[in-house]
Amino acid sequence: MEAVRMMLAELGYDMAHYHQESFNFAALEEDDDFEIPESDETVERTVFRVELAKSGQVLECGPDMTILNAARAAGLRLPSSCARGLRGSCKSRMVSGTVDMKHGGGIRQREVDQGQILLCCSRPTSDVVIDR
Ligand code: FES
Repeated sequence: MEAVRMMLAELGYDMAHYHQESFNFAALEEDDDFEIPESDETVERTVFRVELAKSGQVLECGPDMTILNAARAAGLRLPSSCARGLRGSCKSRMVSGTVDMKHGGGIRQREVDQGQILLCCSRPTSDVVIDR
């Protein structure tokens, strides 16, 4: 980004019209959403199976955890950026299953209708298979 900004300035681009965005991943990792919920021995918890079809990896994901955070907790790095359902970086095709997805505009209804989900804001409501 720095190189592009310098090239544009050298070429005489009106930098008043230059915009860029970046994400602070350190802040995201400190986010409350990333915390793994502590287990409560008195409450029986449902854990869903999330299978990544292409890699063959299987995750366990509680209904109060996003699929992206379950993958992170398992040490997997899936494509993502904002972790807020805004950019669509984690968009993936759901082969089977159901999720509760509360996104921030990073996916279009027609994509949802075609079976796409955003992993960062989708919580499983059944066992799920993802095309990843
Ligand atoms: S990581 Fe940004 S939409 Fe999922």
